Amino acid sequence: MPKINFVDAQGTSREVETKNGTSIMEAAVQNMIPGIDADCGGACACATCHVYVAEGWTEKLKAKDDMEDSMLDFAEDVQDNSRLSCQILMNDELDGITVSTPESQ
Ligand code: FES
Repeated sequence: MPKINFVDAQGTSREVETKNGTSIMEAAVQNMIPGIDADCGGACACATCHVYVAEGWTEKLKAKDDMEDSMLDFAEDVQDNSRLSCQILMNDELDGITVSTPESQ
C-alpha cells in the first residue's frame, strides 16, 4: 500500500498509508490530516484540497486537466507545484510522495 507524507504549514510531517486508487484528498480526510477541507468532496469544484507537491514528484503525476487548472485559480498562493489533491489518485509509483498543505484553504 502506497504511503503519503503530508507536511503542514508549520513543517510537521505525518505519514499515512492508503490503497491504490484512493485520492490524496481522500487519504487526508480518512486520516484527519489538518489543512485539507475538501468542501466539494472531490468533485474538482472547490479548490479547498490545494496542496504543494514536493520536488521530484510533480513529473510523476498525470498532468492537470483544464478543470483542475481553472479551479486552481480560486486557491490562495498558487505556485508551479500546486495541485488539487482530489485529482491525484495513488498508485505504487507514487509510494512515498510528499505534499505540503498551505497555510489556509
Ligand atoms: Fe473540492 Fe478537490 S475536494 S476541488
